[in-house]
Amino acid sequence: MRFPLILSGLRKMQTRVSSMEDIKDSLQRAQPRAAPLVLLKVFVLFLALGVGFSVLSMYMTRNLKVQNVVLQTKARFEPCVEEQSRLDWWIRPPSNLMHNMSDKELLWRASFVPLVNKYPFKRVPKIAFMFLTRGPLPLSPLWEKYFKGHKGLYSIYIHALPWYQGNFTSDSVFYRRQIPSKVSEWGQMSMCDAERRLLANALLDLSNEWFVLLSESCIPLSNFSIAYKHLMRSRHSFIGAMDDPGPYGRGRYNLNMAPEVNITQWRKGSQWFAVSRKSAVSIVKDTTYYPKFENFCKPNCYVDEHYFPTLLTIESPHLLANRSITWVDWSRGGAHPATFGGADITETFIRSILEGHTCLYNNQSTSLCHLFARKFAPSALEPLLQVAPKMLGFG
Ligand SMILES: *[C@@H]1O[C@H](CO)[C@@H](O)[C@H](O)[C@H]1NC(C)=O
Ligand SMILES: *[C@@H]1O[C@H](CO)[C@@H](O)[C@H](O)[C@H]1NC(C)=O
Ligand SMILES: *[C@@H]1O[C@H](CO)[C@@H](O)[C@H](O)[C@H]1NC(C)=O
Ligand SMILES: *[C@@H]1O[C@H](CO)[C@@H](O)[C@H](O)[C@H]1NC(C)=O
Ligand SMILES: *[C@@H]1O[C@H](CO)[C@@H](O)[C@H](O)[C@H]1NC(C)=O
Ligand SMILES: *[C@@H]1O[C@H](CO)[C@@H](O)[C@H](O)[C@H]1NC(C)=O
Repeated sequence: MRFPLILSGLRKMQTRVSSMEDIKDSLQRAQPRAAPLVLLKVFVLFLALGVGFSVLSMYMTRNLKVQNVVLQTKARFEPCVEEQSRLDWWIRPPSNLMHNMSDKELLWRASFVPLVNKYPFKRVPKIAFMFLTRGPLPLSPLWEKYFKGHKGLYSIYIHALPWYQGNFTSDSVFYRRQIPSKVSEWGQMSMCDAERRLLANALLDLSNEWFVLLSESCIPLSNFSIAYKHLMRSRHSFIGAMDDPGPYGRGRYNLNMAPEVNITQWRKGSQWFAVSRKSAVSIVKDTTYYPKFENFCKPNCYVDEHYFPTLLTIESPHLLANRSITWVDWSRGGAHPATFGGADITETFIRSILEGHTCLYNNQSTSLCHLFARKFAPSALEPLLQVAPKMLGFG
């Protein structure tokens, strides 16, 4: 260590300085003959002090610089100090999804919106695919095929149980795409929190323009190119937002929500949305309606069916398609939609999902109403992989 060395040097100087009194005494007492020698001694002392201080200050400066670089590296995983002055630094997505921000910090950070509409750089818009799951993604091989060849046009986010660790290998599109998570329960506010957490993490990447919420039982119904064009050209966010007068619709409205939420604004829809960046920001920045839903949409209100559709209907009704883009089969009745397994997957069945629908798209009639479908069991994987090239246009 150099520091103790310098210290001991200083200490030596101190002992010499403490003998200053002696020097002064000797100066006073000195005969004229002795004066040049004493002056030389004083000169050497000051020279030593000067050299000592410059060595010390050089040491300090270098040490501080090193500390500075270490700090900056820690903060950004980037060794270069100058880069902060370049635009790249501000528009680069986080390299590590496992950040340490609290939900409060994350939502605040994600609510930043540029106020200049034209981007001063080439921005290729991406779709954020947000998987809300408890753990494994059994249909991931199908999704891998779907994403193949479209790097740079999508990003993936996974919200699993906090203790779940996916074991995707580094060549997988799902590798290291898990975000910090908390336990979430169906029908509870914790489910909306998880969805907002996914949206907020995805919003941190400025390139993400569309945000699709999916579960582990979802499948794509078209190839990636078709879905990309369809979403990028849409003027409306795809979220079910129905004004249902019955007990499971308006019947779940609580008068305590007024005046922020009027019963005429109360909406219902499935949670599986595909929303534009604008709608995504509306959802993460909300502090007005959140407490109303948190306090008054329980226990049998199923807040995840009402919060986002109602919030978006109040904030920007003209941006909503009022329908979901994820196909689901409620025809079997009961509290849960049908789940399809290996034996169900035939060309006829897939054709029945793809055909025979009409809906509005940018105010015009279309037969392409769904880009995704649920619910599919793990056993459906193999037959789906087989029919995908012919029926779904990929694989
Ligand atoms: C988050 O905090 C934990 C504990 O404080 C630490 O071990 C971990 O490295 C941090 N992660 C990041 C990405 O900063
Ligand atoms: C991940 O773990 C599951 C079981 O937990 C196993 O079936 C699967 O093959 C593993 N995948 C990889 C890529 O190691
Ligand atoms: C809800 O809004 C409608 C029209 O906007 C109004 O007539 C009605 O009084 C409002 N209801 C409540 C409970 O505020
Ligand atoms: C969706 O519903 C809102 C009212 O809740 C309406 O203003 C909007 O125009 C509807 N969107 C479409 C595409 O019809
Ligand atoms: C949508 O279509 C309806 C009639 O079909 C028309 O009244 C309305 O102005 C159209 N809206 C837009 C934004 O084109
Ligand atoms: C996607 O599917 C459409 C129709 O099925 C097809 O025309 C197109 O070539 C496909 N695109 C790719 C990249 O496979």
